[in-house]
Amino acid sequence: MLFLGTVNRVKINTPHGRSMLLLGGEMKDIEPLLPATGLFIITDTNVHGLYGRIFPPGVVLTVEPGEQSKTLGKAEELCGRLLQGGADRSSFILGFGGGVVCDLAGMTASIYMRGVRHAFVSTSLLSQVDASTGGKTAVNLGDYKNIIGTFKQPEFVLCDHRMLSTLPEEELQSGLGELIKHAVIRDRNLFFDISASMTKVLDGDPVILGDLIRRAVRIKASVVRRDPLEKGPRRVLNFGHTFGHVLEIYYRIPHGVAVTKGMLLAAELSAWTGDMPHSELRTLESLIEKTGMLPELELPANIVGMMSHDKKAEEGSINMVLLRAVGRAVVKRVPLQEISAFVNFYREGKKANR
Ligand code: GLY
Repeated sequence: MLFLGTVNRVKINTPHGRSMLLLGGEMKDIEPLLPATGLFIITDTNVHGLYGRIFPPGVVLTVEPGEQSKTLGKAEELCGRLLQGGADRSSFILGFGGGVVCDLAGMTASIYMRGVRHAFVSTSLLSQVDASTGGKTAVNLGDYKNIIGTFKQPEFVLCDHRMLSTLPEEELQSGLGELIKHAVIRDRNLFFDISASMTKVLDGDPVILGDLIRRAVRIKASVVRRDPLEKGPRRVLNFGHTFGHVLEIYYRIPHGVAVTKGMLLAAELSAWTGDMPHSELRTLESLIEKTGMLPELELPANIVGMMSHDKKAEEGSINMVLLRAVGRAVVKRVPLQEISAFVNFYREGKKANR
């Protein structure tokens, strides 16, 4: 059991960089890790309003909240503001915010003067459980998610779970999708513990959430240590994302909600290909039902065409993360033709159930 105020340190050391995750910590825990001068804080206007008073001393650069800020143009604009503000190669960027801020601040830190030091204070469930850890940075290219990006490990990530109590319900739900993802790919016990604590989770209870986040982040950290640049095993962390990214852009829904629907589709695909028994699909559905995120979305007409632009697609097939069971994921190359056949089967099934 986790106690508030007790910081849990998890190291991600890779040949490409080292990162220290401070889970359950607070602002005083990062004071010794920050430079005495040359700090630039990238945040969004919402987070600035909520936490600006506890920001460490530094130049604050704000962006508008939301996915529309995750562009190369915005990263370029931030580089311009860094230059104007006197940032040089010894400067330090602190991304203070949720998933969008972490992806954008990481991207900016990795390209400004060919890379400056950076770290995060992660304020949303989505970023605490996923986006801020592992060293992926990203911006979108038009309607395609995370097509431009780099790998650069943040020096540290502070996850103060008390910050989650200010999250709107929709954001909490969205982060829950990524929390569930880690359980579904690797840890059946975590899956049932999330299910048993759902009421407290949806209330944003920082102690319960802190415990679940810590367990999920340990899963992510172990995968990233083995494969920091996503050459192979790390692909498993993309469970639900291939379908999810298409739905996120098409319906303009929050990332984690789209990933949740994407996980259900990937689980349906796993049952359809015979990789997983149908009973496991029902197990996953029953947990997702409890989250209030069982969105009934029509699949876009051109879903397979849109999936073919995904980073995981190569030469007429796509690396899909499928399930053998809840808690056990595998990566398989699936021809786009087979995905088309599945999509038709899925649509027919939905029509028949109407
Ligand atoms: N969000 C998936 C990863 O970091 O690999």
